[in-house]
Amino acid sequence: TVQNVINLNNNKYESDDYSNLTPKIMSYLGRNIYLQKNHPLSMMRQKIIKYFYQEYSNPKGTPLFSVYDRLSPVVSTKQNFDYLLIPPNHPSRAKSDCYYINREYMLRGHCTAHQLDLLRSGLDNFLIVGDVYRRDEIDSTHFPVFHQVDAVRVVHNDKLFKNNPDLEIFEKEFVNNDIAAIGSSDKCIDQVKQPCHTVEAVKLIEHEMKNVLEGMVKAIFGKTLKHRWVDAFFPFTQPSWELEIFHKGKWVEILGAGVMRNQILKRAGVDNSIGYAFGLGLERLAMILYEIPDIRLFWSKDSGFLNQFDESDLKKIFKYKPVSQYPQCANDISFWLPTELPIEAFSPNDFYDLVRNIAGDIAEQVTLYDKFTHPKTGRNSLCFRIVYRHMERTLTQKEVNEIHSNIGKSIVDKYGVTIR
Ligand code: PHE
Repeated sequence: TVQNVINLNNNKYESDDYSNLTPKIMSYLGRNIYLQKNHPLSMMRQKIIKYFYQEYSNPKGTPLFSVYDRLSPVVSTKQNFDYLLIPPNHPSRAKSDCYYINREYMLRGHCTAHQLDLLRSGLDNFLIVGDVYRRDEIDSTHFPVFHQVDAVRVVHNDKLFKNNPDLEIFEKEFVNNDIAAIGSSDKCIDQVKQPCHTVEAVKLIEHEMKNVLEGMVKAIFGKTLKHRWVDAFFPFTQPSWELEIFHKGKWVEILGAGVMRNQILKRAGVDNSIGYAFGLGLERLAMILYEIPDIRLFWSKDSGFLNQFDESDLKKIFKYKPVSQYPQCANDISFWLPTELPIEAFSPNDFYDLVRNIAGDIAEQVTLYDKFTHPKTGRNSLCFRIVYRHMERTLTQKEVNEIHSNIGKSIVDKYGVTIR
């Protein structure tokens, strides 16, 4: 029956006893705030990509990494779990922790879900960026939708040991031995290395990975940042770590990383290579860097939040300023400039000052959003949007209208414009 069919991105899924998507969660699909211009998550995404492009490029300056930032968040449970060696009984599979479409499909719980497919397609250095979904409480640091950057770097034996051609990635007894090459059993995790790898190979890739990731957090937060590596466990990497940074008197975990399980590389058809992988959450980094106090703000459509961020200079350091709790009220004003006044003679900054003079602090933003010249008369028209908001109370429409019309009168007096 119709009730048992879920429609997502033009695909139909039959619901079953696992289905637990809510309309609210479905409403976040396709918002793509991590790709939205001047959005703090998008800026953090760009900072990280830029860092990897700079860190890894060939002699011609071409970046080594490719970026996948538009993969659908709808994945199979095989992609999200099985292909990453996450055991069938693992707690992260619980219905209470994931958004399942049905027993077979779900909204990805991490960007690592795409790792095997991309490796299989022949890629060796790539970044995956996207929205991920986990059932969780809603508080100032948790939200059921957040954003991750995942990365994979795979290095072939010839490259890894180009200065030491005698060394090998794999221990002798594991070469040509499919069963053994799959790595250690889950019962006994060796924090140094997988049995199939040589110590030399693991230490080289581990060193590169740690250097690059330390460099990344210092590129974001500055050179004086304190960091530490903590042993961790992920089913898809061994050894594994979490990188923590010291922030406001506490150690904060910001990413998970490790040496890729050889079994995954084998399954993807990648031979005689070793790799590292990591995954990080964009929200946490952006909240720390920009001092954003609540994760829900990332979903704000309020220009009082969004207009504080400007991606044209990613290096510029600025801190978020809390916006008032009271509602905004946006009013537009458009007018014709007098024919004798050339458009260059009217500077938007003059208008902004005029607004400030009349409206004071309740004018939260003023933006010039349309400008055109009439094709026949040659007259110039400008349109501004003024957003009003009081910091201590809700403004009435009547008050706003009065101020707005005073602005209109004043601009007529001062410049001889004609209000449209
Ligand atoms: N997928 C892990 C997470 O979401 C992060 C991770 C990615 C860890 C890749 C290791 C390697 O927590």
